[in-house]
Amino acid sequence: MTGNDIKTVLIIGSGTMGQQIGFVCALHGCSVHMYDVHEEALKSAQNRLAQLALWFEKHSVKNAGNALSLMHYYTDPQQAATDVDFVSESVPENPELKANVFSTFHALCHEQTIFTTNTSSLVPSQIAAATGRPDRFLAFHFHDIRTTKIVDVMPHAGTSQEVINATVEFAKKIGQIPIVLKKENNGYVFNTMLMTLLASALTLASNGVADIHDIDKSFMGVMGTPIGPFGIMDSIGLDTVYEITKYWADLLNDKQGKKNAALLQQYVEKGLLGTKTNKGFYTYPHPEFSKPDFLQ
Ligand SMILES: NC(=O)c1ccc[n+]([C@@H]2O[C@H](COP(=O)([O-])OP(=O)(O)OC[C@H]3O[C@@H](n4cnc5c(N)ncnc54)[C@H](O)[C@@H]3O)[C@@H](O)[C@H]2O)c1
Repeated sequence: MTGNDIKTVLIIGSGTMGQQIGFVCALHGCSVHMYDVHEEALKSAQNRLAQLALWFEKHSVKNAGNALSLMHYYTDPQQAATDVDFVSESVPENPELKANVFSTFHALCHEQTIFTTNTSSLVPSQIAAATGRPDRFLAFHFHDIRTTKIVDVMPHAGTSQEVINATVEFAKKIGQIPIVLKKENNGYVFNTMLMTLLASALTLASNGVADIHDIDKSFMGVMGTPIGPFGIMDSIGLDTVYEITKYWADLLNDKQGKKNAALLQQYVEKGLLGTKTNKGFYTYPHPEFSKPDFLQ
C-alpha cells in the first residue's frame, strides 16, 4: 500500500484533535468516517467542523465547506470500520483505553488497514501488541491544523518500512510536512520542547512567583508570539494537559510536577477546560491575550 492508495480514513474519537485531523483529510479529498462512543460528541463535532470550515474559508482556503460533505458520523464501530484504509485514533490519553480501542478495531478493519495513534505523550511500542497488527501501527501526530502543517511520524521498532513510507506519503498528500523520528521519544520533537516550556510556566504559577497572565505577557513580550504558555494550554485542553502532567509526576514521583498537576486540577474540576468549554485560564472567544492592550 502507498500513501496514494489511502482514500478512506477512520477517525476514532471526535473531540478536539479528531475533528481537526478528520477535517484536513477531507479537505484533501479523503472520505472520512468520524467515530465516537458518544452521540453528543459527534453532534458537537459537526458544529465545530462547520466553524472550522468557515475559519479556513476566511483564511483563503477556497471551498473548505465542501470538505464537510466528505465527513460521515458513526457510533456503530462495525459501520465506522467498513472499507477504511487508514485509522487515526484520538481518544483520551489513557494507554488502556487506547489499547482496547485498537483491539476492537483490529477485529473490524481490513488486515491491510494502517493504524495510527495521535497520542501526545505515549510511544507506540506501549500499545503495539494490543493493535493485533504491530507491523502496521505507528504514531502519526498532529498539532493545531490552523497554525501549522508539521506532523510527527514516529514508528516503533516493529513498524514495517512500507507502512512508514505510506504514512509519509499520505502526510504529504493531505498537505502536511512530516517529521520522521529515527527512534521513539515521548513527546516527539516539538512537544518535547513545548512540554518543558509549559512545565516551567506552571512551576512559576504554582510556586506563586508571578500571575498567570504576567507569565504569558513575559513570554509573548520577549518572543513576539501571539500566545503565551497558558493560552497554549487552553487551546490544548486543560484536561489533556492535566492528564499528561499527572501521568509523568506520578511515574517519576516528581514533587513539583504533582504541584503543577494540582493547579490544573482546580480548573478541570470546575469544568474550565480551555477553548473547548470557552473558559480556562482565559475566557473565549475573545481572550485577554488577543486584545491590543494586553502588552501595554
Ligand atoms: N488537544 C490537543 O491539543 C492534542 C494535540 C495532539 C495530540 N493530542 C492527543 O490526541 C488525543 C485526543 O485528545 P483530544 O484533545 O482530542 O481529546 P478530547 O477529549 O477533545 O476528545 C476525545 C474524544 O474521544 C471520545 N472517546 C472516548 N472514549 C472513546 C472510545 N472508547 N471510542 C471512541 N471515542 C471515544 C470522547 O467522547 C471525545 O469525543 C489524546 O491522546 C491527546 O493526547 C491532543
